[in-house]
Amino acid sequence: MNTGLGIAKKFAEEGYNLFLGSRSAENAEQTAKKLSEKYGVFAKGYGMKVFDEENVKTIFGDIKELGYSVDCLVLNAANLGIRQRFFDVSVEDFMDVINTNIGWNFMLARQAALQMKEVGGGAIVFINSNTAYRAIPDRVSYSASKSGALGMMRAMALDLGKYNIRVNAVLPGMIKTDRWENNYNNCREALSNYTPLGDIADFEDIANAAWYLGSDMSRNTTGAELVVDGGNMIQLYPIVDKD
Ligand SMILES: NC(=O)c1ccc[n+]([C@@H]2O[C@H](COP(=O)([O-])OP(=O)(O)OC[C@H]3O[C@@H](n4cnc5c(N)ncnc54)[C@H](OP(=O)(O)O)[C@@H]3O)[C@@H](O)[C@H]2O)c1
Repeated sequence: MNTGLGIAKKFAEEGYNLFLGSRSAENAEQTAKKLSEKYGVFAKGYGMKVFDEENVKTIFGDIKELGYSVDCLVLNAANLGIRQRFFDVSVEDFMDVINTNIGWNFMLARQAALQMKEVGGGAIVFINSNTAYRAIPDRVSYSASKSGALGMMRAMALDLGKYNIRVNAVLPGMIKTDRWENNYNNCREALSNYTPLGDIADFEDIANAAWYLGSDMSRNTTGAELVVDGGNMIQLYPIVDKD
């Protein structure tokens, strides 16, 4: 299970047809098949090439040829740029994160928005991060990319509002992924000591927030940020409760 699958499941439960992307065509196709069978929706998986506009155009063209039009796009995939030490990281690796998390999302959002414009509206949801505001160690390009993606989200919301296309962002803090399970960056310790609500996010929490921003429930909301981090970001500094 991962965040993307959690989001896809939520939309399938709500009766949405799904078009799923992964760098692995096999994974995307298998996941689409499973979700289609379980939820009785149409689902198709695509193998995606990162930061390749032709590939993006081909995929959206295929969706159209199948007789569908994208009315909600959730941008979850990210290059996490883990362990990029400031003095060691190559400019290529730095730019790879920026290109993936900003440039690729721009390409995907633009093709989706073209389809949404044709049908009179839609919703784009960025899965961003509270690292857009709060830096974490050895993640210089990732933090920069998430701040940049937030600016892009607001600019897109402004440009696309007149087409009734809403653009918003979910800002998770820590999510219970395999990395969390392996206690990367002392995640478990951070959970018990530093999170005001006493727990970090499950996939369902992120999926529910994506669903809210992606569906008509938030039909008068655009350019907004929904923080889902158990309250971590509201603190000036973490308070360790000794009791
Ligand atoms: N985990 C957290 O604690 C946390 C906290 C705040 C925000 N977020 C955000 O939430 C979203 C999901 O996070 P996650 O932790 O669940 O991430 P993840 O599973 O590690 O990554 C999400 C997906 O992105 C794709 N991906 C991974 N590396 C990539 C790369 N170098 N280039 C292109 N695609 C890549 C992978 O899909 P394929 O292998 O299928 O291509 C992966 O399943 C991300 O946008 C992340 O920034 C996560």
